[in-house]
Amino acid sequence: MSVIVLGSLNMDIVMETNQLPVIGETLLGDHVDYFIGGKGANQAVAAARTNIATTLIGQVGTDAFGEKILTALKRENLHLQVTQTATPTGIAAIFKLPNDNAIVVLPGANADFAIDVKATNAWNDASIFLTQLEISLATVQEGLQLAKAKGLTTIVNPAPFHSAIVEMLPLIDIITPNETEFAQLIGKELTSDKELEAAMLVWSAQHATRLIVTRGSQGTSFVADNTIQTVPALSVAVVDTTGAGDTFNGLLAAELATGSNFAQAVHLATIGASLSVQKLGAQSGMPSRESILQHM
Ligand code: RIB
Repeated sequence: MSVIVLGSLNMDIVMETNQLPVIGETLLGDHVDYFIGGKGANQAVAAARTNIATTLIGQVGTDAFGEKILTALKRENLHLQVTQTATPTGIAAIFKLPNDNAIVVLPGANADFAIDVKATNAWNDASIFLTQLEISLATVQEGLQLAKAKGLTTIVNPAPFHSAIVEMLPLIDIITPNETEFAQLIGKELTSDKELEAAMLVWSAQHATRLIVTRGSQGTSFVADNTIQTVPALSVAVVDTTGAGDTFNGLLAAELATGSNFAQAVHLATIGASLSVQKLGAQSGMPSRESILQHM
């Protein structure tokens, strides 16, 4: 069984800095790097590195960044269903701070593309469909409708958050917000772990969509039998957290496609996401399935 990832492809321009500038301030950074990124591309690469057949559907520009992205992704074990357009390739300006990051994305070519169902057989072979919100909401909805019609399990990583996702919940089997996105989903500020977990129990009792909240260095929480289950993250030396959430989502999709049960898939994806933060760049540290299993 295979995975379809519908989503964004970006050129990540990463500047390392010790602090963010405040309005009106200019700071000198340390270093700049260019990495292949975009939540869609990252999630697809994470899935493909576990040797699960993975199709990435998206769009880049005909510009130099678009060509670079395609060349790099062709080296991954991926089926690319990526169109090219005159609109510039998506760009993410990433300010990498010692233990975190801040990102501004220009969607560019990601913002406007249609899904060509006939361009790939993947819709007939896949069991899992994964998407996020860095592409147009109309395309997200189209993908979810297609996936549901084909009987696929659908996963949505609601990042960056948009409230329109609430109307799409009937099409979503699993939703994977981080803590901030979950607070946005329920429209309430959550000020403690206790509040977060109570809100997860309430939300899960009210919705058929399965909820997983990614919690950074604390790991991942989900609801089973009306209780919160938390898979702790591994403690590692953090180099760059960019793409850790994407690694989680890609691995979750891939592991569910192997037939693993929900709890096993969350466990493997959490360990894999922990391992991924040890290298600079969203995709550089994404692990193989074998290396994840060695840490479980
Ligand atoms: O989730 C990390 C990703 O967000 C980066 O690769 C960047 O492209 C932005 O889309």
